[in-house]
Amino acid sequence: MTGRISYMGTKHDLADRVAQVIADCRPGRLLDAFAGMGAVAEAHAGKRQVWTNDVQHFAYLAGRCRFTDPIGPMPASKMRKLATPVYRQNMACLREQNRIAWKAAVKLPAAVTFDEFDHLYQKISAQEINRKDAYGCFTGIYANTYFSLTQCAEIDSIRCALDALRGRGEVTPAQFDWGLLALGHAALRLANTTGHFAQYLRPSAKNLKRVTHQFGRSIFDQWLASLGSLLPSGTPDWRRDNLASRSDCDSLLRTIRQSGDVGVVYCDPPYTDDQYSRFYHIWETLVLYDYPVVTGVGLYRPDRFTTDFSLRSKVADAFKALVEEVASTGADLVLSYPSNGLLHDVGLSPLEVLKGTYSKAELVTEIQHSHSTMGASKGQATAAVAECIYLARA
Ligand SMILES: C[S@@+](CC[C@H](N)C(=O)[O-])C[C@H]1O[C@@H](n2cnc3c(N)ncnc32)[C@H](O)[C@@H]1O
Repeated sequence: MTGRISYMGTKHDLADRVAQVIADCRPGRLLDAFAGMGAVAEAHAGKRQVWTNDVQHFAYLAGRCRFTDPIGPMPASKMRKLATPVYRQNMACLREQNRIAWKAAVKLPAAVTFDEFDHLYQKISAQEINRKDAYGCFTGIYANTYFSLTQCAEIDSIRCALDALRGRGEVTPAQFDWGLLALGHAALRLANTTGHFAQYLRPSAKNLKRVTHQFGRSIFDQWLASLGSLLPSGTPDWRRDNLASRSDCDSLLRTIRQSGDVGVVYCDPPYTDDQYSRFYHIWETLVLYDYPVVTGVGLYRPDRFTTDFSLRSKVADAFKALVEEVASTGADLVLSYPSNGLLHDVGLSPLEVLKGTYSKAELVTEIQHSHSTMGASKGQATAAVAECIYLARA
């Protein structure tokens, strides 16, 4: 059991090689500036102190739990016992207010033909969803899309239970965080998608089996299974001195001075023109729980972060600024970037950019890697490319 989370762009299969390169760098803390789920930070457990940073709330939550919490999650059996009363109360409140839709949603996973499924599905869609006096953010926004109506109610009711337990001091803030992280993990596993949150599957005769299978799974059970499977990385002593932050890398790097303890910065920036926030919006809503007004077919939040690394017109300047900012901290820079990344499309190579600022820069290795193409928005879900690892030293 590894206790890790894998998501778009995670570098679990490259992390040991990156760690070998980092081993020869300046002593000092490793700043994983675009940490995502923290594969490279994890490969440094017990070797170097780490600092994970990502602009997304959920990635920050993952970094905080897995790399900085000395204690770890509450046992799932204890959480089940504590959470169940509030969970059931919120579930009942949502069920009572949405009886017609709820009845249809319960039958949905058992539908055998598409006509049968569609009849129930349309019935649910036609109902106005009520959530008076209940936690109902997901029920009101995502029912019948990324999750079934009852699954949304489960997510809301777990979130309600976590908030109540934290409010009463029955779980610590860190145990709350682990509970939320596990809920995000469960949501990813059970979502009606192809494995990411950029879009949900529109039910059809062709995908009926898959949709009914996903809609039929219990978020509550998966939540507890996830809570039991997620683990902190490394030892408590190692985690105690690690850091985690949520910041745009640009602003973060400007706050780091030469006198700081960062010896090496690892950068794994976005590499396509698909904005990463498309893949995080559901997780962001789970963390923020702010009842956003969503739009478009993907039901996106209004405040999605956009990064210049994913904009053709700005990627070159974003890279130059990143390299200059890292260099100004006095740290070594290790960069991962695929051979078909957006920067190459605009006629620049990462090595040229590194050499523009650092006196020593090299392409250390190229590794064949099955890369995410950002959710098949370009056709295939993965593509074999060379992932290049660069090293720049002052
Ligand atoms: C390629 S992924 C990193 C994956 C990571 N190495 C892992 O193993 O999980 C890029 C990450 O950069 C984050 N990101 C995008 N733009 C950013 C910015 N300007 N500052 C900080 N993080 C950013 C995204 O949220 C995403 O998690």
